[in-house]
Amino acid sequence: MQNFGTMRILVTLTLLASVVAATPKTHAQNIRQYQLEPGPNGLALVVKEIAQPSPGANEVLVRVRAVSLNRRDVSILDRGVANGLVPTSDGAGEVISIGPGVTQFAVGDRVAGTFFADWSGGRRTREAMATARGGGIDGMLTEMIVSHEAGLVTIPDYLSFEEAATLPCAAVTAWRALFTEGNLQPGDTVLLEGTGGVSIFGLQLASAAGANPIITSSSDTKLERAKLLGATGTVNYRTNPEWQEDVLNLTEGVGVDHVLEVGGQQTLHRAIEALAFDGHVAIIGGLSGRADAIPLGPLPEGGSVTDIFVGSREDFEAMNEFLIEHQLRPVIDRIFPFEEAPAAYAYMTSNSHLGKIVITL
Ligand SMILES: NC(=O)c1ccc[n+]([C@@H]2O[C@H](COP(=O)([O-])OP(=O)(O)OC[C@H]3O[C@@H](n4cnc5c(N)ncnc54)[C@H](OP(=O)(O)O)[C@@H]3O)[C@@H](O)[C@H]2O)c1
Repeated sequence: MQNFGTMRILVTLTLLASVVAATPKTHAQNIRQYQLEPGPNGLALVVKEIAQPSPGANEVLVRVRAVSLNRRDVSILDRGVANGLVPTSDGAGEVISIGPGVTQFAVGDRVAGTFFADWSGGRRTREAMATARGGGIDGMLTEMIVSHEAGLVTIPDYLSFEEAATLPCAAVTAWRALFTEGNLQPGDTVLLEGTGGVSIFGLQLASAAGANPIITSSSDTKLERAKLLGATGTVNYRTNPEWQEDVLNLTEGVGVDHVLEVGGQQTLHRAIEALAFDGHVAIIGGLSGRADAIPLGPLPEGGSVTDIFVGSREDFEAMNEFLIEHQLRPVIDRIFPFEEAPAAYAYMTSNSHLGKIVITL
């Protein structure tokens, strides 16, 4: 009897298996996303299909429509440590369902993820810093995300998903550096290094606030474009390796009141030489390698240096109000389809862009 029972179970299982095999795979409840896997040089981007996630209490399900790249996303690939991680911090999309207890969002709302899934405002903590999307936790290069509602902001109506997807990292970083930490005032001078994402947002924000942005670039063509975006002074750092002297000249020897220091090793000491009395240096990046020391010698009396790590949801929301007031539009250099995400990464590595690189989903 026992044998017959076992046989019946086996036959049933075999029949079930053949039914499953014969049923066409609809993928209706699957979504596509990129994950990082070991590749020939560090990590590679690999498309995976996973089951569609669903929101729990206080969570929101977002259909991601666009993602933007930051230099950090390229660096994470090179470092090769984040196996299985969904990459990229920045994305925007629409709410397609909400979990119980959600009060701030409804189906159909247009939202962006905050860079840190869990830094609403106030002082930063180690715990909050560990929730950086596309680094500490999974990121946005996926057709859908589930996020706690506190990790989302409403995006300005006049911006497309592509434009809004550029905001969470680069724009919020520039905002925090200039306004939250730098207390930017009309008439101040601001030094921007290069024409990448953070610097171009810094240029647009400073210009809209009535400040005087001075920008450097390796390309005269890019400097011409920067003038159209509001740069009042430009310097080619390739043809003028001691470009800080040109920056000082442009300020009649006074120096700049703010620096968005994204260059690192090759730029920090030069930027400090170009700093005005009581100027503020926002330490942001290491495009030429991370600077391993701040040269206090040339730091003018009264100058200050702040380490920036993007910003909070509070910063993001304050910035959005400013964007709406001034109707600022992010500068998108190029848009790639989801399938060509690796090409978008390669394009960033080439440094051909001015402003932001976007991937649509
Ligand atoms: N701490 C934070 O919160 C934070 C947030 C965002 C970004 N970051 C960091 O800030 C840096 C910029 O990020 P991003 O996303 O804006 O980069 P990005 O868009 O890739 O910027 C690339 C541009 O930077 C310029 N550049 C490269 N090397 C330079 C140098 N030695 N001196 C001056 N400019 C140089 C070049 O501009 P030209 O072609 O015009 O020469 C290049 O096209 C990165 O190191 C990033 O990791 C930090």
